Amino acid sequence: MFRFRLSSKVCLVAVIAGVVTAVVSMPVQAASPYAGSAACQPCHAGEYEKFQKYSKKAKSWKSVATMAPKLTQDELRGCYECHVTGYGKGGFVEYATTPQFADVGCETCHGPGAAHAEAGDPSLIGKPTMATCEGCHNESRVRSFGFKPLLHSGAH
Ligand code: HEC
Ligand code: HEC
Ligand code: HEC
Ligand code: HEC
Repeated sequence: MFRFRLSSKVCLVAVIAGVVTAVVSMPVQAASPYAGSAACQPCHAGEYEKFQKYSKKAKSWKSVATMAPKLTQDELRGCYECHVTGYGKGGFVEYATTPQFADVGCETCHGPGAAHAEAGDPSLIGKPTMATCEGCHNESRVRSFGFKPLLHSGAH
């Protein structure tokens, strides 16, 4: 009996220790690999200003927001695949918490740029290929909009 109680106490201690360890080692929310388009402005003012002024991508959240009242949450999440930056990849989560990613920003074409924006090292940022565009300008979009972009269009 004594041995049983002892071992159950040991067991309880082990469980508590386990819970404490689990709580303590819970990952702190990882910093986003994305920086947001505004973070590129200080060093690439020309590209940034042209992009904001002429690219529909810079206003792509508006297209979704206008239609949002008529959409289910599932449908809305479907829009995020193409109308925001880095959805499901550490970028956009929802408008309330990540408004800096609520456009099809620089990083949808150039890839996540937080490390590059911090260091200014050109080897840390990518350049798009047609395959990058086709992730969103896919065959069915091209058919329904009757529009297939060229690589150097719609950016800056
Ligand atoms: C602290 C300054 C700084 C910030 C912030 C910054 N960049 Fe750069 N970037 C540079 C420098 C310096 C270069 C190399 C010289 C050049 O091409 O202007 C460069 C080059 C680039 C290149 C060309 C890379 C190549 O292979 O030639 C791209 C694309 C780029 N940046 C995109 C971005 C994007 C997107 C952001 C925002 C997420 C950003 N940059 C933020 C400094 C910066
Ligand atoms: C993350 C998804 C995504 C990627 C990747 C993407 N686009 Fe787009 N693009 C969009 C969306 C969304 C719109 C429409 C925005 C709106 O009107 O709300 C758009 C609009 C455009 C337009 C319309 C005209 C304008 O002024 O914006 C052009 C041109 C274009 N994209 C070119 C490209 C090219 C070239 C690439 C690849 C280098 C590319 N896009 C990659 C989502 C994307
Ligand atoms: C597979 C990628 C993709 C998905 C998913 C997607 N869009 Fe788009 N959307 C685009 C692209 C690309 C364009 C630009 C069309 C073009 O000109 O080629 C666009 C254009 C638009 C436009 C027209 C904007 C204008 O200026 O004419 C609206 C509005 C829009 N999308 C709303 C939505 C909504 C709402 C959803 C979700 C229900 C959604 N989209 C889902 C890629 C997508
Ligand atoms: C629609 C896709 C797209 C978007 C969005 C986009 N770029 Fe680019 N960017 C390109 C393409 C294409 C090139 C040329 C790549 C090449 O030469 O191979 C380029 C080149 C660059 C370069 C290298 C210098 C040059 O002009 O060749 C810089 C810097 C750059 N982009 C910064 C930005 C910044 C900052 C933003 C946001 C404000 C941005 N880009 C948004 C497609 C895009």
